[in-house]
Amino acid sequence: MASVVIVGAQWGDEGKGKIVDLLTQYADAVVRFQGGNNAGHTIVLKGEKFVFHLIPSGILYKNKKCIIGNGVVVDPTVLIEEIDELKKRGYFKDDSQLLVSEEAHLILPYHRRIDVAREKVFKIGTTGRGIGPAYEDKVARCGIRMVDLLDEKVFRKKLEDNLIQKNLYLVEVLKERSFGFSEIFNEYVQHKMRLEKYVKDTSRFLHEEIRKGKQILFEGAQGALLDVDHGTYPYVTASNTVAGNASAGSGIGPTQIDSVIGVAKAYTTRVGEGPFPTELKDELGERIRERGGEYGATTGRPRRCGWFDAVVVNHSIRINGIQEIAMTKLDVLDDFDKIKICTGYRSYGKIFHHVPSNLELLKSSEPIYEEWNGWKTQIKGGRRFSDLPPNAQRYIRRIEELIHAKIAMVSVGEERNEIIELKNPFKEVDRRTIRVSRKPRSARKVKKPKK
Ligand code: GDP
Ligand code: IMO
Ligand code: MG
Repeated sequence: MASVVIVGAQWGDEGKGKIVDLLTQYADAVVRFQGGNNAGHTIVLKGEKFVFHLIPSGILYKNKKCIIGNGVVVDPTVLIEEIDELKKRGYFKDDSQLLVSEEAHLILPYHRRIDVAREKVFKIGTTGRGIGPAYEDKVARCGIRMVDLLDEKVFRKKLEDNLIQKNLYLVEVLKERSFGFSEIFNEYVQHKMRLEKYVKDTSRFLHEEIRKGKQILFEGAQGALLDVDHGTYPYVTASNTVAGNASAGSGIGPTQIDSVIGVAKAYTTRVGEGPFPTELKDELGERIRERGGEYGATTGRPRRCGWFDAVVVNHSIRINGIQEIAMTKLDVLDDFDKIKICTGYRSYGKIFHHVPSNLELLKSSEPIYEEWNGWKTQIKGGRRFSDLPPNAQRYIRRIEELIHAKIAMVSVGEERNEIIELKNPFKEVDRRTIRVSRKPRSARKVKKPKK
């Protein structure tokens, strides 16, 4: 039995899609447990690029189950587009590969319109996909779930009730256009016909799989600093992005989770508004953006770029319980003379080494840097740690020291096979479990009390 959670350790876009795709070879099922189509997870396979917004990044393998858990908010239009695109490209031939939780909440057209309209005031820099408003309805208990869509009578009633309030809010408060009942109802009944075959009790399915000893990979979306509780609030997304939510967002208990791997870029990026201490607003930032292709996989927006921030990744390690880091995009730093690592912040004459909850303090924080020599060599072809140039090895080892965690894998290119020290995380879990169970408490040496 083994379950491994993969989460973003920065502000999203760390390369989770690539790592999940790579590790799916060792898994039986891949589960998305939060977020929605604000996510854009990229996989490059033999030069062919795929971007997934809702479907888990394990879908390119035949015979691996892909589950959209109850914690995800689903825009049916986007899901159908993704299914069609995959089938057109010769993938996802077996419909039983995909399961969508009947408890997952729907994104409706009014959620998108509210999201976009509210941006004019609140300026979070959201993706405009209706994610926040859909989660708000879930918590307000007026959301509409997949299972509600399957029952036309229930769907009709819930949509009618919602539209009374949503139209009032749209027209009177946001000064936007209202929605007619039939336009949404008819569209969503069509969606239901396309999607009903995938809608299942995914909590029970997963429970059974785990009971049978199957290996489950949980695919986080966004990143720790975008977590609604532990991120840079209010410049965050609307769900808990941390590993703890893999349990609630998929309907299995926390005791079923064995291991957490964080994905972090060798530098830092952020899309949207909000504080970002190591942001480089100069030519260096521009160089990282161009070399790293740092443009949003969902919205195409240029990503803000900066140096690696060990304070941020330390924060992620703590709130996620990350045991190991997969570092991505080290190759992007190949041609820099000097590379900096942020080791702490300075604000109002004080030095600190944690991400403060007080946003004003974070906004005023100046990064404290260490400077390291670059390696000025192409590292793309390496597959073992020893293949890396000494300066790249030093950079990784120094970061490990600062974050107090092992960098177990290093990605050096966008292709699936461009990885250093690939290993089966499920095997590691098994070994760890065995090691622990072979050393029972009673076997430890205990000092005998003096007579
Ligand atoms: P995600 O949201 O965390 O899955 O990440 P995105 O897909 O939004 O962004 C990561 C981008 O970096 C994608 O374009 C990937 O193809 C690319 N990528 C991932 N790993 C590497 C790597 O090691 N090197 C390079 N050069 N690109 C990578
Ligand atoms: P993946 O899974 C990077 C950001 C948005 C915005 C904030 C709130 O690809 O890493 P939302 O639409 O969620 O209400 O926007 O969160 N954001 C992401 N940034 N990667 C993502 O996903 C993101 N999903 C949301 O840019 O700042
Ligand atoms: Mg992304």
